[in-house]
Amino acid sequence: MDKKIKKAVIPAAGFGTRFLPITKAISKEMLPIVDIPTIQIIVEEAIEAGISEILIIVNEDKKDIINYFSCNKKFEKFLLDKGKDNLLVKLRESEKMCNITFTYQNEQKGLGHAILMAKDFVDGEDFAVLLGDDIVVNKDNGATKQLIDLYNKYNCTILGVQTVEAADVNKYGIISYSNFQGREYKVIGMVEKPNFEAAPSNVAILGRYILTNSIFAYLEKQKPGFGGEIQLTDSIFSLLEKESIYAYDFEGKRYDVGDRFGYFKAIIDFALTREDIGKEAKNYLRKINEEE
Ligand code: G1P
Repeated sequence: MDKKIKKAVIPAAGFGTRFLPITKAISKEMLPIVDIPTIQIIVEEAIEAGISEILIIVNEDKKDIINYFSCNKKFEKFLLDKGKDNLLVKLRESEKMCNITFTYQNEQKGLGHAILMAKDFVDGEDFAVLLGDDIVVNKDNGATKQLIDLYNKYNCTILGVQTVEAADVNKYGIISYSNFQGREYKVIGMVEKPNFEAAPSNVAILGRYILTNSIFAYLEKQKPGFGGEIQLTDSIFSLLEKESIYAYDFEGKRYDVGDRFGYFKAIIDFALTREDIGKEAKNYLRKINEEE
């Protein structure tokens, strides 16, 4: 079997409760970092890692994501009629990025349940998972690419991790490990959102995974765990009985855009590095700072 990672799954079916009221009408994955939806940044990271097929898992109320990745003939005609051909490039930026398809998760039963919806798409292959709440910036070597490189070495499940503050371990899946070398951890256990006292380490799974296809056998029989939800972390833990798992401390600055302040920080940092508004943004921030 060809073991190259060609497929990626992006779960985007959650309600986005933390971003109410905007998420009443707009998917949280469509919230812009300046003018680019967070989901486009995630899709670009997957493509840069060599992924050619992406499945986005949505729910009935998140058609805006499907619209975003589809062609908008009316808007195209409008721009052409107005002679604004230069803006067509921007309009088409999200189209034909790669082969993107969609499937529905109609019940909110948790991340593990969402990934189960990807079984037919993945079709027996090993695959990448990218969670939309985590944006990782690394211009030369994206987080998913780093994980795929390690997968190519070990041919097993690889978890993208970084250390977090002790006070934050209860927000994440936390691993325990027997060995740490270079940036690689040999994983021996994991627990979803432990409280500080029970956490086996402060090494957190941060929204990037390469999963072997065996995960589906565990997801299919997975009982609800933390928060009454079917947790991906619990099934990956069970997979340890059969296969080795490594975690990789990926290089890159991570933004938790599922958090209001994390989202704000991402907008500021991205704005500062933009060619069009970077200089103005810097001057403006300096001015605010001086006024304080
Ligand atoms: C999910 C996973 C968790 C992981 C986190 C990363 O949690 O269940 O293991 O650490 O994503 O962002 P969520 O933030 O969706 O509750």
